[in-house]
Amino acid sequence: MFPLLRRAAFALAPALLVACGGGGGGGGTNGTSTITSTPGDGSTPASTLPSAPTSVVATAGDASIRLSFASPAQAGSSPVSSFAASCVASGTAASTATGTASPLQVTGLANGVAYACTVTATNAAGAGAVSASVSATPSAVAGALTLDLAALANYAAPTLPAYYDGKVRAQDNTPADDPVDDRIATLGRVLFYDKNLSVNGTVACASCHQAAAGFSDPARFSTGFDGTTQGTRHAMRLANVRYYAPGSMFWDKRAATVELQASQPIQNPIEMGFDGTHGGLAALLPKLQAIGYYQELFTFAFGDAAVTELRLQDALAQFERSMVSVGSTWDAGFAQVYDPTLPDQGRSLPVPTLNAQQDRGRALFMGGPGVGVGCAACHQPPSFALAANSLGNGLDAGETTVFKAPSLKNVNVAAAFMHDGRFATLAQVVEHYSSGVQDGPALDARLKRPDGSPRNLDLSADDKAALVAFLTTLTDTALLADPKFATPFKTP
Ligand code: HEC
Ligand code: HEC
Repeated sequence: MFPLLRRAAFALAPALLVACGGGGGGGGTNGTSTITSTPGDGSTPASTLPSAPTSVVATAGDASIRLSFASPAQAGSSPVSSFAASCVASGTAASTATGTASPLQVTGLANGVAYACTVTATNAAGAGAVSASVSATPSAVAGALTLDLAALANYAAPTLPAYYDGKVRAQDNTPADDPVDDRIATLGRVLFYDKNLSVNGTVACASCHQAAAGFSDPARFSTGFDGTTQGTRHAMRLANVRYYAPGSMFWDKRAATVELQASQPIQNPIEMGFDGTHGGLAALLPKLQAIGYYQELFTFAFGDAAVTELRLQDALAQFERSMVSVGSTWDAGFAQVYDPTLPDQGRSLPVPTLNAQQDRGRALFMGGPGVGVGCAACHQPPSFALAANSLGNGLDAGETTVFKAPSLKNVNVAAAFMHDGRFATLAQVVEHYSSGVQDGPALDARLKRPDGSPRNLDLSADDKAALVAFLTTLTDTALLADPKFATPFKTP
């Protein structure tokens, strides 16, 4: 039965394409129609060559090009048995790949060279027509990363709302002579997500600064490259890092700039492990320099392939500074009431995108003595980065270290709060300000009574709940889900 069927199918070949002339008295169409002839003598018909594969798409890889295509539909000829792909660049011999199905991978190509590629199908009669030519330029970047260097994401000039006015721009810690550049920030994105920055290839910056947790760690204490947990400091959220005016980084501000901060997790003996015993940055730099995509990306960003500590710092800092948060529920409403002619730019006005409880929390957060509880004096809207002159918030009695806080944007998607992650909920944070403020040398005057003793806010249950509700309106899911801040690696 099967041989018979096959024979019957075969008997329909070959197809003869006969152009219909304008002759007949019919509809006056000028198309083509197919007439199949069946050899009456039962002999095997002669095969025709396959027509060209269609829909050919070339995807560049590392020293390779992948060609996907549709097999030619050619009823009547003998079945296609194989395909051959060929890529050629001016002055080179063609490189080829063969196989029985799409896609085909042509390898052994030179990176950075534009190739023209075609595909042919072969059947019993031989190799058929050559497809339309498609071009692609292999590169190590194309092999490892999803980046399109010809169409970079916009890091340098995001559209900011009007309320990111001169007052806010004055808090920007971006060096005047080193504005964010799309190429350098794109390199920073790759570095940020690259586990090669850790000594054993297990941990990236993004391992502890996860977008879904507000670019922080869902764990109270992060686990480093060898599985050891660091145990004293919670990983900080990164949105609006550029609007902390002093520019100093870490909870205790020990890194003077965003740039200088970037080397420290790499060299940390627990976090990424390039400490003295592992050769330090002197071991990391040649490791990165040997990676093909960095040779291309450093050249793309800086003009040559040299991997230096300054360039690493610059690229990571630019990527981090481009994480500006303007997409929260609070932002959408404040945009409607912002008024540059008012002394407080409209911060005391009701925000239309907030519900009644959230807006009650907003009034408490924003308002000074008598109106609210003064959170905004330290956590400054619209960036919610900490004010330059903020001292401590009285977590521990006798505290001498003046800690900072990251911007409160996305605080609600984080899972641990304060420098040591001691609080697991925002309700506990608010309770601290309501009843737990401790005296000490670092305590800020804004959290003291006129007599110098700690000032607890003694909030009602409703007001505490309202403050928590307000903090949830600072979540910026647009930023957290923005592909330009997601991993660029094809295999994360
Ligand atoms: C193993 C976890 C871990 C890794 C990996 C890690 N970080 Fe962090 N990050 C932290 C912790 C914890 C802190 C707070 C540390 C402190 O204050 O002592 C922090 C703080 C920061 C800060 C300070 C933010 C502020 O507002 O002051 C920046 C910026 C930062 N990290 C960027 C990076 C970059 C860039 C990398 C990769 C080169 C990186 N981190 C790798 C855990 C990590
Ligand atoms: C005097 C300035 C100041 C005032 C006023 C203030 N804070 Fe803070 N806040 C800080 C500092 C400093 C930290 C970080 C302290 C630390 O971790 O040691 C902080 C931390 C926080 C955090 C945790 C941030 C994180 O990333 O873990 C939240 C949430 C917060 N404050 C909310 C509030 C609210 C709500 C109010 C008003 C009731 C308020 N703050 C008033 C200075 C202030």
